[in-house]
Amino acid sequence: MARTIGLFLVFLFSTGTLSAQPTEELKRQLDETREQIKKQQEIIEGQKVKIEALEKALRERIPPEMVELELLQRESIERGKKVYSSKGCIECHGEEGQGGKGPALKGVTLKYGEEFLVLSVTNSAISHGPKPLMPAFTELQADEVRDVINFLATFVPGRENQERIERGKRLWNKLGCLQCHGLKGEGGVTGPALIGITKKYKYDWVRICITTPAVHHGRKTEMPAFSEVPFMDVEAVIDFMNTF
Ligand code: HEC
Ligand code: HEC
Repeated sequence: MARTIGLFLVFLFSTGTLSAQPTEELKRQLDETREQIKKQQEIIEGQKVKIEALEKALRERIPPEMVELELLQRESIERGKKVYSSKGCIECHGEEGQGGKGPALKGVTLKYGEEFLVLSVTNSAISHGPKPLMPAFTELQADEVRDVINFLATFVPGRENQERIERGKRLWNKLGCLQCHGLKGEGGVTGPALIGITKKYKYDWVRICITTPAVHHGRKTEMPAFSEVPFMDVEAVIDFMNTF
């Protein structure tokens, strides 16, 4: 009992008033203060980014117009990073785009065109086939999508791609691409050579060539449609083709 009274007094003093306020009100104030601190921290983070950019510009004698562009880009990346974690992309694609439940996103912006990337993020059923595992983020505003894509561009491709290439190679043989296009895309009796194909076309177009070749070659093509092959397998095959 004495302890309870003690706690009660501490409570009164800490609120700075003797009229006991209902806890709801205190909770609201606490939330509000936390929210204010968060906003101020965000401003400080933003200014730190700006300072870094300005310091770099001074060091490297970059003209002011370029600095302005660089700053806008950096701000966009910072906002994109927030979208990436608040929308749960991080849960499936990993903090550094290393992948997990979803594919690795390292180098993804080098592979795809802007349009396909936007579709990948907002409406995955169009870009990822009829049964996408990734949720469609239709609620994202156009500038948020651009920000998150700018953030994805900061993921640098690394060694983990090697595993995907190995898997792609196995699939290349298993799916029978080998029979028509040769062991390393050198071409065969039935299929054309595919050397340099991923340099010639963007990944999204190569994907269409594989999953729905009629779009590319017309209805009567001899290239079979691999429309049932899961997205991530097609992805691995294209990574393998990237080595041709
Ligand atoms: C529930 C897990 C999950 C979440 C959350 C998720 N993704 Fe995905 N993502 C996937 C999967 C799985 C794929 C492969 C396509 C499919 O099966 O839907 C994919 C594919 C992609 C691709 C195309 C990758 C490629 O190599 O072709 C991009 C880009 C992408 N996601 C970005 C995002 C962004 C940005 C967010 C957050 C706004 C996000 N994803 C949230 C699971 C997820
Ligand atoms: C039965 C033989 C056959 C098989 C199996 C086959 N292809 Fe093809 N592929 C073709 C032919 C033929 C073409 C050319 C189509 C045309 O001109 O109508 C082609 C075209 C392509 C193209 C477009 C080339 C270009 O320059 O436009 C790609 C990419 C491709 N194939 C990838 C693959 C992959 C990946 C696999 C395995 C998943 C595969 N193919 C399996 C016969 C085949």
